[in-house]
Formats: sequence, C-alpha cells, structure tokens
Amino acid sequence: MSTSVAFRTNLEVLLSEEAIQKRVREMGEQITREFVGRSPHLIAILKGGCVFLSDLIRHIPLPLSLDFLAVSSYGASTKSSGVVRITKDLDHSIEGRDVILVEDILDTGLTLSFLQENLLNRRPASLRIAALLNKPSRRIKEVHANYIGFNIPDRFVVGYGLDVGEKYRNLADICVVIEPGSNDGS
Ligand code: IMP
Ligand code: MG
Repeated sequence: MSTSVAFRTNLEVLLSEEAIQKRVREMGEQITREFVGRSPHLIAILKGGCVFLSDLIRHIPLPLSLDFLAVSSYGASTKSSGVVRITKDLDHSIEGRDVILVEDILDTGLTLSFLQENLLNRRPASLRIAALLNKPSRRIKEVHANYIGFNIPDRFVVGYGLDVGEKYRNLADICVVIEPGSNDGS
C-alpha cells in the first residue's frame, strides 16, 4: 500500500514500489547465480543503502554476511576533489572475502571511486558494486558498477533510503521532489 497522501503532496513518483521490488528481486537472483557456492560479504553504505540492502539480501539465499560503512564528503568546495571521510568504518576484516558494496545511487561517482580504492587496499578476494540507481549524466569519476537497478535522469530523488535533509527515506516509492511554483508537476 502507498504511503499516506499528506506525507507526499510535493512528490512525483519516478519508480513505483512495484517496479523497485521487481528489479531488486532480479538483482538478488543475478547475484545468487553469480555467487553460488560462495559466501558473499555485503557492505552497505549508510544511511541511504540500508533499505536496498535489506530487500536485496532476502533474494540472495546464500550464506552471506553483512557490514556497514558510513561516509561524509568534506563539503561542497572539496567535493570535486573526491575527498570522502569514513565516519563509521567496517567492523570486520574483508581480507580474502568476496565483497559486494551496496549503494543507493551512483551520482558523480566520487564516493564509490574513493571507497573502491579504499576497500581494494584491504585485499578482498573480489570487490563488486551494486547500485540501485545510476545517474550517468552526472559522472565526474568513472566507476564500474557490476549491478545497476535503474538508470535515471539528472533529477534529485528521494525515497527507498534516499533523503533530502533526512526526510523521505521511508517512502516505498522513489520520487522526484517538486519545488513549489515549479512547472515540474504539469
Ligand atoms: P556521488 O559521490 O556523487 O556518487 O554521491 C552519491 C551520494 O550522493 C549518494 O550516496 C547519495 O547520498 C547522494 N545523492 C546523489 N544523488 C542523490 C539524489 O538524487 N537524491 C538523494 N541523494 C543523492
Ligand atoms: Mg548514500
């Protein structure tokens, strides 16, 4: 069932709950096929990646394990340098593990390219990236995501883990925020 109308008056659905669930299931099935006989270690990037992770793992019937990372960028002025700070590091070593990094959205690529290099230095057996959303037009640093849910246009989206000012992470759909007075809703 959809989230209440009053909570989401200025939002326009880009990807419905049904479409997201269908795609996440397909991604889980693909990961399962590719990791059969292995024990993948999934690392979600907090906070946005946790909703995607929690749905994804229920479509991966393998003996997997989980960990979490939190990052923040140093702010607008240094964003283009790709400097990212780890604010919560992993609890477990990934040396020798088959790691899948799980992210909500691949936008400029600065976060994932930093994390990819950082994690590769810890000598995992393999490292793959699963991103639910991809905005290819925004890319500054090239990053190869092995699993991509949806390619989307350059619009700011919320829901399904994604926020604006910490709001809307709990929406089941992924929506575009319509600014009051804009013509986007027409
Ligand atoms: P990147 O380093 O630019 O690829 O940053 C990706 C991060 O920026 C994501 O993990 C999100 O936290 C945030 N982000 C990028 N685009 C959006 C969006 O459309 N809505 C909400 N958060 C976004
Ligand atoms: Mg994020």
